[in-house]
Amino acid sequence: MGHYLRLLKYLKPYIPRISIAIVCTVLATGGHLVVPWLIKDMIDEVLVQRDYAMLNMLAVAVVVVYFARGVFFFGQSYLMAYAGQRVVIDIRADVYRQINRLSLSFFEKNRTGAIMSYVTNDVGALQGAMIQSVIDLFTEGVVLLGSIVAMLVLNWKLTLFTFATFPIVMKIVEIFGKKIRASGHRIQERNADLTSVLQEAISSVCVVKSFVRETHEIAKFEKENLLNFRANMKNAQLGATLTPVIEFTVSIGATGILWYGGREVIAGETTAGALVAFLIYAVNIANPIKRLSKVFADIQKAMAAAQRVFNVLDMLPDVVDKPGAPDLPPVKGEVEFKNVVFAYNPGEPVINGVSFKAGAGKLIAIVGPSGAGKTTIASLLSRFYDIDGGEILIDGINIKDVTTDSLRGQIGIVPQETVLFNGSIYNNILYGRLDASKEEIEAAAVSANADGFIRQMPGGYGAMLGDRGVNLSGGQRQRISIARAILKNPRILILDEATSSLDAESEKIVQEALDRLLVGRTSFVIAHRLSTIRRADSILVLDKGRLAEEGSHDSLLPRGGLYTRLYQAQFAKAQRTETASVILNL
Ligand SMILES: Nc1ncnc2c1ncn2[C@@H]1O[C@H](COP(=O)(O)OP(=O)(O)O)[C@@H](O)[C@H]1O
Ligand SMILES: [Mg+2]
Repeated sequence: MGHYLRLLKYLKPYIPRISIAIVCTVLATGGHLVVPWLIKDMIDEVLVQRDYAMLNMLAVAVVVVYFARGVFFFGQSYLMAYAGQRVVIDIRADVYRQINRLSLSFFEKNRTGAIMSYVTNDVGALQGAMIQSVIDLFTEGVVLLGSIVAMLVLNWKLTLFTFATFPIVMKIVEIFGKKIRASGHRIQERNADLTSVLQEAISSVCVVKSFVRETHEIAKFEKENLLNFRANMKNAQLGATLTPVIEFTVSIGATGILWYGGREVIAGETTAGALVAFLIYAVNIANPIKRLSKVFADIQKAMAAAQRVFNVLDMLPDVVDKPGAPDLPPVKGEVEFKNVVFAYNPGEPVINGVSFKAGAGKLIAIVGPSGAGKTTIASLLSRFYDIDGGEILIDGINIKDVTTDSLRGQIGIVPQETVLFNGSIYNNILYGRLDASKEEIEAAAVSANADGFIRQMPGGYGAMLGDRGVNLSGGQRQRISIARAILKNPRILILDEATSSLDAESEKIVQEALDRLLVGRTSFVIAHRLSTIRRADSILVLDKGRLAEEGSHDSLLPRGGLYTRLYQAQFAKAQRTETASVILNL
């Protein structure tokens, strides 16, 4: 119920429209209710008393009533649909805004499909509950109440009689409905069985033939085929029985009304017109009852969706700006980790007391075995997660004290997996800085070694990527992502194994582009490439979330520690090939 009240709050801005819609609804259903009454007058005043004037009046009245009903029905449907669709759009926008506000951890804990379903299916289901159910509840409720009142006014004894027979009809319909649904299920199962027998026989045709089991297979299939027939016949039988049974039951009820009512008319207790009108109301009453029972089931279903939607809306992002936090001023790019501790899951620290200092404009390589925490260090610097202990400082400013937007605005990341959006190459590069000019985009592409291949594409910079667009190689994608980073022109740069999934040929071209990107920025390079590591001003060697060693290549190599072992395992081979290519180039 709380959810429902909260949903109704979304209707608030549309109250004027909804009020008009409600008035329209009452008038439209009122028109519906008035018709049997007109028929009553037709019989009692016109037919019995032979009143021509009244006949003309009634004829006009019927036309007017139906016309007005049409107008009001339009108003009701249109305005309610408007409010309903607006509410859906509003909730959907809220959910999407919230999803964008939530921290990375939300996306790790929820599957993509589930998150998408919150925005599409669940919000859509709410519209059913919000609007269609409310309309139905309202219109059908008015029809039901109006009919009952009309019936009571016409003849209260007959009304009681009718309501005594009503539950019997409803019960019969319910029993048949259940049976028909069950038999529908059985048909589906039988169809599935038939398909699987068929599929098995076709896909194993070699086995069937080699064992000469065709007759056996045919017999198997015929058995399923017959079961399928029986299931369908059962359903047909139920369907064929339902209509006559209902009609018969209703006719018994109607006959009861006619019989009892007829006696009243003969006795002069009521008029013939009143009896006919009563009968029409009584038969019409079945519809609202049927629909109302469906409305409650719909509302229950939608409440489950509402629960999920509100759960998402109520989630708090893990990473939030401090109230009134200032922007991070443009930085030189000095980065310091002070005793940083971090765990994705409480109690399982992934970064355990890491401290280091990186001077502005320096090149820092981060190496370590897989799972050591290299990517995590990069994520923490961008404040994708809040640390559990210690401090991260940029130019001496704690990153927790400034807005995350201004922090991330000065950090560029080139990840291993390049993410490009559907759209043109131009727009994909533009993503790095939305106000960049065409010249700046082309210059970025040139620095990223991407201009050449882009111009050779059909469509050039306008070539579309994604679903029905061109396909790029891994190296080309990576260079577009580098162009994007160049355009952003961040003071601090993170390259997370940016070239590790590339083949040697494209790696060389991408590395050239990266080298240009690194110049003049504080760069953290999570690297597997020896030449980059050698050039680094400092190498951080991570092991199980701790800083095992720190220093330049030349100082670390002779130590015989983890770096030496990593070097021997990973880089020595790379060095041999690099040396080999140098020799070949000579
Ligand atoms: N989103 C996450 N949730 C929980 N654990 C994670 C998550 N990301 C990484 N980890 C764990 O943290 C540790 C460090 O991961 P990571 O920083 O990606 O290592 P590296 O980049 O050095 O290979 C690993 O044990 C990994 O399983
Ligand atoms: Mg990693």
